[in-house]
Amino acid sequence: MPSLFDPFTLKGVTLRNRIAASPMCQYSAVDGVPTDWHLPHYAGLARGGAGLVVVEATAVAPEGRITPGCAGLWNDVQAEAFRPIVAAIAAAGAVPGIQIGHAGRKASANRPWEGDDHMAEGDARGWPTIAPSAIAFGGGLPKVPRVMTKDDILRVRQDFVATAKRARDVGFQWLMLHFAHGYLGQSFFSPHSNRRDDEFGGSAENRGRFLVETLAAVREVWPSDRPLTARFGVIEFDGRDEQTLAESIDLVRRFKAEGLDFIDVSVGFSTPTAAIPWGPAFLAPIAERVRRETGLPGSTSWYISEAEQADGLIRDGKVDLVMLGRPLLANPHWPYAAALKLGLDKPSWVLPAPYAHWLERYRTA
Ligand SMILES: Cc1cc2nc3c(=O)[nH]c(=O)nc-3n(C[C@H](O)[C@H](O)[C@H](O)COP(=O)(O)O)c2cc1C
Repeated sequence: MPSLFDPFTLKGVTLRNRIAASPMCQYSAVDGVPTDWHLPHYAGLARGGAGLVVVEATAVAPEGRITPGCAGLWNDVQAEAFRPIVAAIAAAGAVPGIQIGHAGRKASANRPWEGDDHMAEGDARGWPTIAPSAIAFGGGLPKVPRVMTKDDILRVRQDFVATAKRARDVGFQWLMLHFAHGYLGQSFFSPHSNRRDDEFGGSAENRGRFLVETLAAVREVWPSDRPLTARFGVIEFDGRDEQTLAESIDLVRRFKAEGLDFIDVSVGFSTPTAAIPWGPAFLAPIAERVRRETGLPGSTSWYISEAEQADGLIRDGKVDLVMLGRPLLANPHWPYAAALKLGLDKPSWVLPAPYAHWLERYRTA
């Protein structure tokens, strides 16, 4: 079995190791355009040694942003602003990836540090939300979304396609569809948010239709030599977990049949009353099951923070990559620190030459 610092090849893309920077919204864009915050942030993650850097959830349409500060890729100004970010990630030896998505009924919210709740009715910065059914998430997100018409569904699918093309053209090598965390894709699949009685609701097959059709449409424009991946919430922790998991695994098999190359396993977050058993790498056994039962390579995140733990998940064949979020915010050089802990005494395996050269010669610690 490979270890954390073995390369990983998928399609025409090779990652220098099995550590990925998980997509993390920075809530620092203006009109969806990345700002001066973003380039050093993503360059830093790449310089720290991650093999893959997945840029934050980037909206396919203005109403698909979670907050007014979320990034978007629905116009050319945004696309041009992403070019130097892609270049900076690649210059530091990491593969540039991006997650694209639509926030659905969870859109139009305040930044996490400004409340993390829906913007008040009448707040000029807010906007009407859309979703499969007129059901609010609840808790701090009480806005009732407008039910999507068939035209809306087609339009958003095309928005995913147009955004995937822009991501392709600015040079992203790894595309992650955001089908998790209660946002639009997940909300079509979850019975918590989808009570439609047309071909997009009801049976698991129908609830999966928007996701499958969107994926298939994106596959047509996303180059065949670049990985098409998805983050999907396969479990809700709402008391009906075995059924959700079985339906989710079936859906991932359908994704695979439409050309999905890799699955990132996450939580559904479709209801505020979920009882999530937070703990170290708690999703790893579920990711392993999804990987085994679908035959797709995969990853997971959530509370993977120790070098030995991450290395063990790879060596035990539970996942092919580990997705790290907060540990990389705390220390973008986590991969280098992990390499030292695991006894890999060769910084150039992990860090780009302008850093590795000096650390290799003069490291005293
Ligand atoms: C600041 C922040 C922003 C996040 N934004 C996103 C996002 O844009 N898309 C996504 O799928 N998950 C997002 N997440 C979840 C992370 O990608 C990751 O799955 C989660 O933090 C668990 O990993 P960790 O325990 O290593 O932090 C975010 C997490 C954080 C902390």
